[in-house]
Amino acid sequence: MIKLLFVSHCPSENTRILRDSAVDSICKMELVNLELRTQAPELTTAADIEWCNGIVLGTTENFGYMAGLTKDFFERIYYPCLELTQGLPIVLYIRAGEDGTGTKISIERILAGLRWKLIADPLILKGNWDTKFPDQVSELAMTIAAGLDAGIY
Ligand SMILES: Cc1cc2nc3c(=O)[nH]c(=O)nc-3n(C[C@H](O)[C@H](O)[C@H](O)COP(=O)(O)O)c2cc1C
Repeated sequence: MIKLLFVSHCPSENTRILRDSAVDSICKMELVNLELRTQAPELTTAADIEWCNGIVLGTTENFGYMAGLTKDFFERIYYPCLELTQGLPIVLYIRAGEDGTGTKISIERILAGLRWKLIADPLILKGNWDTKFPDQVSELAMTIAAGLDAGIY
């Protein structure tokens, strides 16, 4: 089985819509070899990272940086995973009220340290809520799901 881990910080209705629509889209692909695990960052451990073959990571931007619970996630898994998960494919989406840059830069720096592989440009969903946002996150999530399933990543 190919294992995809969906880690998303969802403090609002909109961010839950992003997660749910992406999870829905992956399920509709009916990839029989793909196992999907969806959970909040505060419940995600180094063992979950070692279990998976790829990650979808979603966070909000708060105070110009990733959400505190997303940062806590990286702080807990960084050293336990450092030697064991190099090359892990990941996609990232950021929901930001108006910016998102600080979150993107800081997460990219951590991913470089971990040697994880961003397989698509991070998606920043900024400004007023746009009904296109869920489709954009779904497309990103389906990209990694399809790639893992096809053995590309
Ligand atoms: C305490 C707090 C700090 C925030 N700081 C930022 C920020 O620095 N930059 C930004 O673009 N959005 C910021 N936001 C907005 C959040 O990113 C936004 O509320 C979140 O992504 C949820 O989006 P939604 O309103 O579509 O549910 C902040 C929100 C909160 C609650």
